[in-house]
Amino acid sequence: MACKITGLTSAEKAAITASWKILSVNKKDNGMTLFLTLFSTYPDTLNYFKAFENKSLDEIKGMSDMRAHATAVMYAMDSLIDNVDDPECMVGLVRKIARNHKGRNIGKARFEQLRSLYGNYLDTNLGNRSSAATKSAWDKFLSYMNNLIEKEQNA
Ligand code: HEM
Repeated sequence: MACKITGLTSAEKAAITASWKILSVNKKDNGMTLFLTLFSTYPDTLNYFKAFENKSLDEIKGMSDMRAHATAVMYAMDSLIDNVDDPECMVGLVRKIARNHKGRNIGKARFEQLRSLYGNYLDTNLGNRSSAATKSAWDKFLSYMNNLIEKEQNA
C-alpha cells in the first residue's frame, strides 16, 4: 500500500533504503561527488557558497568546507531515509531544510537541479546495483520533497 503522505509504495521505499545503504557507507565521498556534479552541471550554484568564490573545481575538491558541506548534506539525507516509515517526522525534517535554505535564497528550482542529475548519480555510484526501479523511486521521493520545500518556503 502506498504511503498516504508521500505516495511511496513499499517497493519504492525498499528500493530507496537499499540503495541508500550502499551510498551512505561512504557519505563524504558520495556527497562530494553529488555536489561537484551539481557545480559542474550548473556552475551558478557555486555562487551560494562564499568559501568557494573564485576557486576552480579542483581547488574546491580539496577544501575542508567542501567536505564539511558534503557530509552535512548526506547526514541530512540519512535522517530523511531513516524516517521513510515515519513520514510525519520526515516531513518535519524536510520543512527544516526548506526554512534554512530559504534564508540562503535557495528555492525549489535549485533542488530540482539536484533531482535532474540524481539518476545519473545513482548509475555512477551504484554501478550494476542501479536499476530503473531504483531511479524512479528516488525521483518520486525527490519530487515529493521538492514540492514540500516549495510549499514550506511560500507559507
Ligand atoms: C537534498 C538536498 C539538500 C540537502 C539535504 C541539504 C542539506 C544541507 C544541510 C544539512 C546544510 C547545513 C545546515 C545548515 O547550515 O543549515 C546545508 C547547508 C547549505 N546548503 Fe544545502 N542541502 C541540499 C541542497 C542544496 C542545494 C541544491 C544547494 C545550492 C544550490 C545548497 C546549498 C547550501 C549552502 C550554500 C549551505 C551553507 C553551506 C555552508 O555554510 O558551508 N543545498 N544544506
